[in-house]
Amino acid sequence: AALTIFMILAAYLAGSVSSAVLVCKMRGLPDPRTQGSGNPGATNVLRIGGAGSAAMVLFFDMLKGAAPAYLAYIMGINAVWLGVIAIAACLGHIYPVFFDFKGGKGVATAFGAMAPIGEGLAFALMGTWLVMVFITRYSSLAAILTALLAPVYTHYLDERFTIPVAMLSTLIIARHKDNIVRLVQGKEPRFSIRNKLKK
Ligand code: G3P
Repeated sequence: AALTIFMILAAYLAGSVSSAVLVCKMRGLPDPRTQGSGNPGATNVLRIGGAGSAAMVLFFDMLKGAAPAYLAYIMGINAVWLGVIAIAACLGHIYPVFFDFKGGKGVATAFGAMAPIGEGLAFALMGTWLVMVFITRYSSLAAILTALLAPVYTHYLDERFTIPVAMLSTLIIARHKDNIVRLVQGKEPRFSIRNKLKK
């Protein structure tokens, strides 16, 4: 029990390290919370700084979900508590203790935190997100649709994780409230990687 509590705390703290803010600072870019959508995440860093910076943010945001979840999995912590640890990492990302509780939307961190479920789910989610971005040209909408499908995929791949994944998806979709409003109003910016590759 002590170990589980420690892992929940560690996950929250790891999640609280805002890769987007740190990568932008390191690379001399403006704070992502003051530019574009104001979201400290890979999508907004792509707008501000280009593909290289965005890839770094994506990688570290995934890692801070994957590392605690996978470590806990190796320690033999059960599916329900792995879910709590995954949610703690995402809550850290969304409400980071180190960054005035102004964090991101948890997409990359949740994706990383699903690592214990296996590469089948990882490929299904990546594939879904890519196809949805290709079709809709919205990063946020692709994330929302992928989050909706994640519990369905999980149900077929490893039933033990269906409810934890559904909880992660709910958190992520709720966090996209502003994007949903913009999508409905037709004001959401389209996702584009062109012209961003050389930056
Ligand atoms: O993954 C975050 C993305 O879904 C939305 O980011 O910056 O377009 O609000 P943004």
